[in-house]
Amino acid sequence: MDLSGKNVVYLGGFGGIGSKCIEEFLQKGIKNLAIFDLHENAAVLENLRSTYTASNVFYIKMDITDKNSIEAAYNEAANKIDHFDVIVNGCGIMNDSLIELTIQINLLGLIHSTLTAMKYMSKLNNGKGGLIVNISSVAGIEPAGMYAVYSASKFGVSAFTRGLANPFYYHTTGIGFITICPGFTETNLLGVAYNNPTFEKCEPMLKRFAEAKKQTATECAKGLVKAVESGKNGSVWLIDLGTLKELEFPVVWTPTFE
Ligand SMILES: NC(=O)c1ccc[n+]([C@@H]2O[C@H](COP(=O)([O-])OP(=O)(O)OC[C@H]3O[C@@H](n4cnc5c(N)ncnc54)[C@H](O)[C@@H]3O)[C@@H](O)[C@H]2O)c1
Repeated sequence: MDLSGKNVVYLGGFGGIGSKCIEEFLQKGIKNLAIFDLHENAAVLENLRSTYTASNVFYIKMDITDKNSIEAAYNEAANKIDHFDVIVNGCGIMNDSLIELTIQINLLGLIHSTLTAMKYMSKLNNGKGGLIVNISSVAGIEPAGMYAVYSASKFGVSAFTRGLANPFYYHTTGIGFITICPGFTETNLLGVAYNNPTFEKCEPMLKRFAEAKKQTATECAKGLVKAVESGKNGSVWLIDLGTLKELEFPVVWTPTFE
């Protein structure tokens, strides 16, 4: 997908990875950028507006734990933008002491956002189709025992996104789906995670967690935008230590028919 002139909605755009991703998108010459997030970051917004003067950048307040707030944000964005080409679901927390909130933000919120976006984008509703990019994690493809709740939420994201990438849906809606699986990335999220593993008494594992090599948010963002440019429906991308790699999954079960 050539991103020049495209309309992008980024959920969680003021986060560590999000703020670098939106810059990468703007550098590609997108036309409109809607940032949905819990809190406005006026300084970042002002800086983007003065740097990328050819693009229209705006913020809409949204709480991803609240379905009404998600729907209101899309409605407001749809009143400002003709159509959506790319949606990035990039909100998330990593705090296994908050079980319900983890599932609410990382999985339920992402599901509601995706299904809401589809109503606007689907060719079945006279939309133009487009691409929905869901941020999972390496913990959404390899179980992470120290963060079992987070890992469960991210496995949910990977399964949901790969499920919707079914070619039947693609042919009827025109919407492609991409799953992004970043490895450790230097953002505030990891600091919160360090103090909130699933169980106490896991110091040896925590030490390894702290010492593991991490990529920068900019490296992660460059990988994400390259994956979006591929536009490949159903693709799952590992972005680790600055390297982007498409993952393949063995088929271990198919239904049997009479
Ligand atoms: N940092 C990593 O190592 C890493 C690795 C793999 C995947 N990820 C995933 O990448 C995504 C971005 O993470 P990050 O590292 O930039 O974290 P971050 O904490 O810097 O950003 C998280 C974003 O989510 C938003 N958010 C949180 N709760 C919200 C709510 N209730 N409503 C609306 N927005 C809300 C925050 O405002 C922020 O913009 C997350 O999905 C995360 O799980 C991060």
